[in-house]
This record gives sequence, C-alpha cells and structure tokens, in this order.
Amino acid sequence: MHTILVTGGAGFIGSNFIRHLREKHPTSRILNVDSLTYAGNLENLQAFEQDPLYVFRKVDIRDRPAIDELFTLFEIDDVVHFAAESHVDRSILEPELFLSTNILGTQVLLDVAMCHWKRYPDDKYSREYREDVCFVHVSTDEVYGSLGETGLFTEHTPLAPNSPYSASKAGSDLLVRSYHETYGLPIKITRCSNNYGPYQFPEKLIPLMVHRCMTDQSLPVYGDGGQVRDWLHVEDHCEAIDLVRQNGRVGEVYNIGGHNEKTNLELVRMILQSFDRSDECIHFVKDRPGHDRRYAIDATKMKDELGWVPRYSFEQGLEETIEWYRTHPEWIERIVSGAYRTYERDMYSSVE
Ligand code: NAD
Ligand code: DAU
Repeated sequence: MHTILVTGGAGFIGSNFIRHLREKHPTSRILNVDSLTYAGNLENLQAFEQDPLYVFRKVDIRDRPAIDELFTLFEIDDVVHFAAESHVDRSILEPELFLSTNILGTQVLLDVAMCHWKRYPDDKYSREYREDVCFVHVSTDEVYGSLGETGLFTEHTPLAPNSPYSASKAGSDLLVRSYHETYGLPIKITRCSNNYGPYQFPEKLIPLMVHRCMTDQSLPVYGDGGQVRDWLHVEDHCEAIDLVRQNGRVGEVYNIGGHNEKTNLELVRMILQSFDRSDECIHFVKDRPGHDRRYAIDATKMKDELGWVPRYSFEQGLEETIEWYRTHPEWIERIVSGAYRTYERDMYSSVE
C-alpha cells in the first residue's frame, strides 16, 4: 500500500493537503503526524475520523525514537513535510522554538527517512535508495527576504531571510538540500507565497481581519499598510505540492505563487467592502520589526515543467473564503475561546 506521511497535517495547509490527497488518491494511506501545538486543530479533519486509510498520530517531529517507530510500522513511501512554527510575529517573541522545531525537527525527519529508505543501511557512504520514495519539504518564499518595487523571486534568487521564522525556514530548506548533495537523499523543495482559504488559524491576516469584521472590531494594520504579499488559494498550493511530489525532479526547488500582488491596505479594504464596513474601521498600529516590504513569486518553472497554473482568481477565492468563515462562525469561535483544544482531549478519551 502506498503510504504518504504528512507532517503538520492538523494545521492550515496540511489539513487542506490531506483533503486534497483523499480526493485525488483514494487508495493511498495517509499518516498524519502532528504534535498539536496551538496551531494544530483536529476539528479540521473531522471528516476523516472513520476513514480506514487515514491515520493520526500525536507525535513531535523532534522525537527521534517515535518517528523511527512510525517509519517501521507504516513503511512510508513519501514524506510531505509541513510541520513547523509558522507565524512571523511569534518568532520575534520566541525564536528558540522556531529553530528547534523548524531546523532540528526537519533534521530528525531527514535522518530517519534516510535510514529507512537506504538500500544498504549499513553502508555509510551508499547513495542508493528505494525506488519511488521522496521527501517533499514545504519551504516558503520568505527565505528570499524582501523585494524592492520591481522584480520577482526566482529559484535562483539568493536566500536572505529577515525574521527568525524565515531564517529557521531557510536553515531547514538548506539542510534538506544538503542531505541530497551529501547523502543523495531524494528530496524536492517548494517555496510558496502567502496562502489563504478555509481553516487558517485566525492569527494570520485574512482570517484575523474577517473575524474582526464579523465581531465588529477595528482592523489592526501594521505600519503604513503598503507591504505587498502575493496571495495564493490553499487548494492551488496543495495541487502544486502534489504535482511536485509525483512529477517534480529530485533535488530541485520549485517556486509556487499566485501572481496576485496586493498591498495589505488594498486587501483589508476588499474585506471591509464585503462586510459593507467603511475604512474608518482600519486602525494603524506599530509596525512589525524587520517587516519584509514585498514578496512576489515567479512560478514559470512550475508552469513549464509541471503544467501548473493557479485555478482561483483572487476575487473568487477571497469571496469564497470570506463566505466559508461567515458560514462557519463556530470554527473560529472555538479557537478564540480555546474550546478546540478540548476536542483533542475528547478524541483521545474516546480512542483509549
Ligand atoms: P500552521 O501553523 O497552520 O500548521 C503547522 C502545523 O505543524 C500545526 O498543526 C502544528 O501543530 C504542527 N507542528 C508544529 N510543531 C510541530 C512539531 N514539533 N511536531 C509535529 N507537529 C508540529 O502552518 P501552515 O500555515 O499550515 O504552514 C504549513 C507549512 O507551510 C509550514 O512549514 C510553513 O512554513 C509553510 N508555508 C506556509 C505558508 C502560508 O502562507 N501559511 C506559505 C508558504 C509556506
Ligand atoms: O509568504 C509566505 C508566508 O506567509 C509563510 O511562510 C508564513 O508561514 C505565513 O505566516 C505568511 O507570513 P506573513 O508574515 O506574510 O503573514 P501574516 O498573515 O502574518 O501577515 C501578512 C501581512 O499582513 C504582513 O505584511 C503583516 C500584515 N499584518 C498581519 C497581521 C496579523 C497586519 O498588517 N496586521 C495584522 O494584524
């Protein structure tokens, strides 16, 4: 049975990716490994609880013996590695956690995958692996740092991360590359721009602003709101990652982006409009330290090599996303109140 290990599958993109895999590859088994930090929410995956080809294990990726045991038990064929601390603002307050999870956690996964996938595990210098295995590392466009007013990030743009989060992602990204160069491990790296869509934790710009509109609060915009992000619908991202997993070239980096540049102020105004609220609700607050001014991705390689282009227009994607949050108020409310954490406890008591 073909088994795909998804790390961080209880988070925003990971849970959307599991939904994508279930639909596109109904005969593959999915092992979701997530330690359920504040960002992990098993309610995102309620639909799969009875699915015999979906397995969840609450494990920290830094726990080497536990990860090793899972590779033995489940005979993993592919790894798609999402698990990370992902929020820039938190990395400014707690950098150590980001280095630990994002770099050392990735190293544990690489080591264990290498050990289990090697044809001759006792031969330290052997570069031969089982056929048809691959490790997909989900990196980010933030590793490139910040752009000026023109130009796009290509796969050849030098890495110049500016926050502890992006530095930790650059560290893991380069570590993954090094396991390919040094040990021949079959890896692929994706670097994507800002995602939006259902199930995004409401600390991130779009769900935060939507929730604040839904609850008649002001909208906090950092600095002058002129920072530019290149928005991509999460389903387009999931499709791109899955294509890289199946058809991408080993050892390669693929940029993924939406050609959807918007300043934060433009975006916040679009959200306000959809709630019939005025610009007066915007509240300019102190800027994020080291705030990157502009991200924009050149995704030509994805198009030319893998035939991928985004399906969603931003207008359609944003409207559907706002509608999803509006029609699932309990999903956000349970996060805001902390009740989503009890779901995890209830799940376990019903299993044990
Ligand atoms: P998220 O914060 O919503 O989810 C992260 C998940 O990882 C959570 O379920 C959390 O419980 C889990 N996790 C954290 N530490 C763990 C650990 N030590 N062991 C096991 N699980 C752990 O993040 P997201 O927005 O879904 O992002 C997923 C990945 O995609 C990250 O690697 C991020 O850097 C990358 N990425 C995100 C975006 C974006 O716009 N959100 C864009 C490009 C790349
Ligand atoms: O580019 C990909 C990255 O996108 C991912 O690697 C990260 O994991 C993901 O969190 C995201 O990072 P950003 O920092 O761009 O996302 P965030 O939603 O935190 O902020 C988007 C922009 O909005 C950024 O310029 C900061 C601004 N902002 C954010 C918040 C939360 C505000 O102006 N006000 C806010 O309250």
